[in-house]
Amino acid sequence: MDETMFGRALSELRGSMPRITAASAESGRLIVVSNRVAPIEEGQPTAGGLAAGVLDALREKGGLWIGWSGDIADGGSRLQPERQKGRVRLQTLDLAQPDYDAYYRGFANSALWPVLHYRSALARFSRADYAGYQRVNGMFATAVAAKLEPDDVVWVHDYHLFGLAAALREAGASNRLGIFLHTPFPAPAVFMTLPVHSDLARSLCQYDLIGFQTEPDRRAFEDYILREADGHIMPGRALMAFGRVVRTGVYPIGVQAEEIRRQAEPLADCAQMSRLRASIGASRLIISVDRLDYSKGLAERFLAYERFLEANEERRGSVTFLQIAPPSRSDVESYREIRVGLEREAGRINGRFSELDWTPVRYLNKGFARQTLMPMFARADVGLVTPMRDGMNLVAKEYVAAQDPRDPGVLVLSQFAGAACELKSALLVNPHDPDEVAEALEQALSMSLDERRERHAEMMTALRRNSLSAWRDRFLADLGARR
Ligand code: G6P
Repeated sequence: MDETMFGRALSELRGSMPRITAASAESGRLIVVSNRVAPIEEGQPTAGGLAAGVLDALREKGGLWIGWSGDIADGGSRLQPERQKGRVRLQTLDLAQPDYDAYYRGFANSALWPVLHYRSALARFSRADYAGYQRVNGMFATAVAAKLEPDDVVWVHDYHLFGLAAALREAGASNRLGIFLHTPFPAPAVFMTLPVHSDLARSLCQYDLIGFQTEPDRRAFEDYILREADGHIMPGRALMAFGRVVRTGVYPIGVQAEEIRRQAEPLADCAQMSRLRASIGASRLIISVDRLDYSKGLAERFLAYERFLEANEERRGSVTFLQIAPPSRSDVESYREIRVGLEREAGRINGRFSELDWTPVRYLNKGFARQTLMPMFARADVGLVTPMRDGMNLVAKEYVAAQDPRDPGVLVLSQFAGAACELKSALLVNPHDPDEVAEALEQALSMSLDERRERHAEMMTALRRNSLSAWRDRFLADLGARR
């Protein structure tokens, strides 16, 4: 769809959208909008926390999910016909190459993602990309508007769609619109390195509710609004800015701990696990699983593991570091660079320390289904999760949930992952200090059973408190609540 068509669609919709009444606000249908939609077929690996959490919400309550199909269309961007998968209705949009380039590869992942993760120096901003980002946000808005009924509640996800509410409001929608940001929100000075920061903040304030993973993220946004957007604090964690009142809240995304433990248990039945066990024998296992992304701190982690091997000679030959890192966004330049760098580092460390019968680093550039990963987590003595910045990091939570409570492994966790706000009984480290991470690895491998059990039990309490369903229910309750 081109801009003119989108403009026409908007004009047709303008003024025709019915207003919801306070009395009907709690009964509306749920429309979820996110860039990615999960594969709906059972047993397929999902694209990450967002996909798993949203799919679960929709499966339980039923509703409509609108997102990018993952396909590039020949010709113009276009909507696919709606499909029904169980209780979930699915409406996807194919993107034309120029739209994909400007919106996804360009503004969302080359400018906004690095800034949200405190990496302004990596950001590549262009006005043309930002125009494409707004254009695609407008296309999503048109798709939503075409299905919108007066009582519907719209739950938007993540940094790809900051502009969606503004486009819907322009079309006359007065429905409850909420956005949950899965990434961090940076300190105001960092956010302001984006030339369009003010425009983005104005767009965000068109939502009724903005959800963040942690209180520091929420506070960073509030600071920006108060100091840079002339906003005011209102009662109930609301802010007045750009002529609107917007509520903010903290909703740490969680996991389904019981289900993960069930998936982790049948160690013997899993073919991949048997292969892993046969090949590492009695070796201690350190595991990391991340998308291949600079925010995950993989290069720094490899360096820390090397320091660990240098400092603990007696561990050589009896410990294996398994890094699983499926490629991600490989058509964005900064992502291609990280892949090349890591291959070099893994090769160098292995060249330096390997013996005929021992390889210190196993670096796998592919993903595994959850049914395979969870038993691997359960087998691993240490979960090493050291992002430089992360909105939450569900791998940390999954690692904890997968453990056998009678003999649990130890989580070594970056203080800059959102999960660190809850998992205070992990060994918290600063990923910028390789020696500190190396020491934590040794502490984890030599920790007593009593201490491991105690730390694990404390973390399980946190996981149960902020489960996946609690995340969803709290966000939707706040979004539907009367103003
Ligand atoms: C992060 C983002 C998600 C995104 C996922 C995978 O978790 O918060 O919105 O879907 O990464 O990245 P991709 O670019 O492949 O969708």
